[in-house]
Amino acid sequence: MRGLRSVGILSTGSYTPERVLTNADLEKMVDTSDEWVVTRTGIRERRISAPEQASSDLALEAAKIALEKAQVRPGELDMIIVATVTPDMMFPSTACILQDKLGAAKAAAMDVSAACTGFLYGITTASQFIANGLYRYVLVVGVECLSKITDYTDRNTCVLFGDGAGAALLGPVEQGMGFLAFDLGADGSGGPLLSLPGGGSRLPASSETVEQRQHYISMAGSEVFKFAVKVMNSATEAVLEKAGISKEEIDLMVPHQANRRIIDAAVKRFGLSEEKVVINLDRYGNMSSASIPVALDEAIEAGRLKEGDNVVLVGFGGGLTWGAALCKWSTREAKE
Ligand code: COA
Repeated sequence: MRGLRSVGILSTGSYTPERVLTNADLEKMVDTSDEWVVTRTGIRERRISAPEQASSDLALEAAKIALEKAQVRPGELDMIIVATVTPDMMFPSTACILQDKLGAAKAAAMDVSAACTGFLYGITTASQFIANGLYRYVLVVGVECLSKITDYTDRNTCVLFGDGAGAALLGPVEQGMGFLAFDLGADGSGGPLLSLPGGGSRLPASSETVEQRQHYISMAGSEVFKFAVKVMNSATEAVLEKAGISKEEIDLMVPHQANRRIIDAAVKRFGLSEEKVVINLDRYGNMSSASIPVALDEAIEAGRLKEGDNVVLVGFGGGLTWGAALCKWSTREAKE
């Protein structure tokens, strides 16, 4: 049997909607202040999708950019994985809708539901198909229209979330490059801490579920905060250990963008200097599964990554879920 192939990110793309919702705008909607939001979260503004835009529309824009950069045609894709908690509809999957929009006729397509950890679950899954030789190109998209499930009368949540999409094309890279380690985890007992209770088979959509605002995100903020700080550290430590890399060897960390204070705790724990951490939540807020791929794409575009760098992607979210990936950066496709 042939050995496993090394897998990396060949290209990325991102898209965020035009409309900007600032903290000053939110001051007019709920009892909050720019000062509170900035000091408690670091967020200054976020992007909001247009009424006619759904997640597949955002995903399409990000996907087209990623494919264009790698010079891979949609028809060459073997699989599409979309990570989202805001699918266009319950079914068909947003991945199937995207497959049609892209014209990726031979690609298998499925959604992954792991909330803000969705992109990490997506790339971990995608990598297995490429590593074992079944597929060559798998497109992973993290996309959210969180504004459509956010209660803009609830100050505890509405200041946090925004909309966007980030895509990554995964494929085979030279041996020893690309992903060196993954770590995924879940604790379903914490599910109620961060959920959208209505509209599923437990509480089918009805006028009562709407009246009780159960079609919106519900969150126990401080519990999620504590969980996040803990798993950001443990997941990062797990991939460092699996890959045999020390914290001093981290060249770039791309953390989930939920709260500046959560990121600062991880930065302190791993002794990272400012230039080794990607932070864009001030401009986008928390875009759930889109946060990591958008931040990664912006870091690449800003020239912050070079061949051979050790990059840690790490995140956490509803489920509860968490995950990390350690990648020895290379976008050079292996030609075999
Ligand atoms: N403006 C002003 N006050 C607000 C507010 C807002 N937008 N949102 C909450 N508050 C108030 C609360 O009502 C509460 O008031 P009370 O004490 O009178 O009841 C108080 O602020 C809570 O303060 P504190 O406990 O210091 O908040 P915090 O430091 O825990 O920050 C979060 C709150 C939500 C920002 C923080 O807990 C957090 O980021 N949690 C993680 C959330 C997350 O990442 N979710 C997504 C996971 S992927």
